[in-house]
Formats: sequence, structure tokens, C-alpha cells
Amino acid sequence: MPSVITPTIDIHLSGDDLRRALEQDVRTGLTSEPKQLPPVYFYDDRGSRLFDEITRLPEYYPTRSERSILDAHAKDIVMGCDADVLVELGAGTCDKSRVLLDAMQSNGRLSRFVPLDVSDTVLWEAATALSEEYPGLAVTAVVGDFHHHLDRLPADGRRLFAFLGGTIGNLDPAQRRGFYAELTRAMTSDDRLLLGTDLVKDRSRLISAYDDAAGVTSEFNRNVLHVLNRELGADFDPTRFEHVARWNEDDQRIEMWLRSTGDQRIRIASLDLDLDFRDGEEMMTEISTKFSPDALEAELEQNGLMVESMWPSSGDEFLLTVARPR
Ligand code: SAH
Ligand code: AVI
Repeated sequence: MPSVITPTIDIHLSGDDLRRALEQDVRTGLTSEPKQLPPVYFYDDRGSRLFDEITRLPEYYPTRSERSILDAHAKDIVMGCDADVLVELGAGTCDKSRVLLDAMQSNGRLSRFVPLDVSDTVLWEAATALSEEYPGLAVTAVVGDFHHHLDRLPADGRRLFAFLGGTIGNLDPAQRRGFYAELTRAMTSDDRLLLGTDLVKDRSRLISAYDDAAGVTSEFNRNVLHVLNRELGADFDPTRFEHVARWNEDDQRIEMWLRSTGDQRIRIASLDLDLDFRDGEEMMTEISTKFSPDALEAELEQNGLMVESMWPSSGDEFLLTVARPR
């Protein structure tokens, strides 16, 4: 029996870096029209816990759906990729990573796991648990931003870059182009991408997945206001903002907004910034783009990635795609 290897952590994003980025994003986003905030700031410890709760809600099908594809096909997927290193971008609690790690292990091809996330506490907990569960597995946790740090990942072995959960859909088209450019620069011809994307479907199903009866998504959405209060000395009253989830037909995406109830002035002390919100004014906090297999294949090909195989869930709810650099 191999012994447990103590995990290591590579930090490419310090507390200071995160704070500088937060200050800049908040100043730019909240002085734009309409006001907006990037979704990366949802995921402090509380936000990561709320997201975890979302994944178990009856209305939120993507996690279960993606997992069902992995449960059924992970062995075939990893066999086709022939990788010995699993890199996971936006890994979070690494729940689904285990299915891929098991499949790689049973193929006798598992040497290293490299989960990357901005959320350091959740990442470290997951890395520690995984290195104990998989004796002999080297776990290199990376605290970093998948928009900026793909070239700093360990480069040994044949790597499978898993980007699961549909997180690619949280990027707008320009951000996705930037992401594919960085990724293809970092990948060698032996590396593969395993990309999870949510698929376009009935609009009421989509909306209820982002506006659940128990109100967990509403709490998750408003969590960003708690983050701004804590980190930047802002004085948002989160109870005075309503959660809005809306389908944007033109851009094929769910959008989450926070709507001000009443006219209000917010002070963000650290930025010396005063902001006015009109009654009913909405601030955009997240997009979650839904794809069709054809549109996704075209997008990947336009961005230097050739599709090798596609694995839809039953009922075509969710899609896993394996692609290689051209
Ligand atoms: N992959 C998991 C978690 C998805 S939640 C799943 O499929 O369930 C999205 C994750 O991406 C969170 O853990 C969040 O902290 C992380 N994340 C969001 N923006 C990021 C960024 N710019 N760089 C790195 N991680 C990011
Ligand atoms: C992480 N990401 C893929 C989730 C999604 O479905 O877009 C985040 C989320 N937002 C609200 N619910 C879940």
C-alpha cells in the first residue's frame, strides 16, 4: 500500500492581490451603467458553502446531471485521454474530481492531482482530504485565477484539464476567448480538455434552477454584498436587495441581478465611493450561458480546440466534451 503524500500548495494569488483586484473590479463595475460585479466574489467561505447547498437543491439539476455522465462514462473518457495528471479549474470542494480520479486510478494512470481555485480554504480542505483518500497521489493545490494563472501549473505528465460544472458559462464571450487563448498556450499536444457545459432547455426549468423555492440561490446572490461590506467597509443592507433570475434569449443565458428596493445611497469606505441606487435599479452579478452542442463545437474550433468526443446526459440536460489543441 503506498503511503499518504502530504499535499503542497502553490499560491499565485495572495490576499493582497485579491484585494487589489476586488477594489478595481468594484470601482469599475459599480460606476458602470448598468452596475455589475464579477461572480468570482461570491465564493468566500460562506458563498462556497451556499454553492455547495445549491448543488443539492431539487431544482438545480446541473451538478446531478454532470455527475451522472461521469458515473456512466468516466472510465471511457479518461481512457481516451490517456492522462496521468488531473488538473481541475475552479475545483471548489472537488466532489466530482473523485469520479475522475477513481477512473484514472483503475486505468493504472494516476500520478498527480492539481486542483486550482481562488477560494483557498475550501481548496486546502479538499486537497488534504483527497491526499488521505488516495495514498500515493501527489496533490498540488493551486490558489490562482483561471483567467491568469494557467501557464503556472505543473507541466509534467500528460494532463487532463477538467473545467466542470458549467463554470465556462459564467464567462462572457470575450472572457471565453481569452480563457481558450491562455489554455491552448499552456497545453501541449498530449494534453486534453474535459469541459462541462449546461445545455439550452425549457425556460421555466432554467429559471427555477436559479430561483429555488428555499431561497438558497437568493442568499448566494446577496452574499456578494456581505463580501463587499466585510472586505471594503461598505454599508449594503442585503435585505434591501431582491434576487432576480432572468433568461436572456438573445445571449442564451440566465442572468442573476440584485434589485434595489427603494432609493438608497451606499458608502464604500475603503474606496471613498458613494453610490446611488434608484428604487428598482438592478445590478448584474452573474451570467450563466447555456450552449447547444453545435454552437459549442464551433466555439471550440474557432478558438484552437478540436472536439474529440461529446458525452451528453440522458435527456440532453448537460454535456461533457473532450477536446485537444489543434
Ligand atoms: N467545479 C465545481 C465548483 C463550481 S463553483 C463544480 O463543478 O461543482 C465555481 C468554482 O470556481 C468556485 O469554487 C469558485 O471559487 C471558482 N472560481 C470562480 N471564479 C474563479 C476564477 N476566476 N479563478 C479560479 N477559480 C474561480
Ligand atoms: C458555478 N456555476 C457554474 C454556477 C452556475 O450554475 O452558473 C453558479 C451558480 N449560480 C447560481 N447558481 C449556481
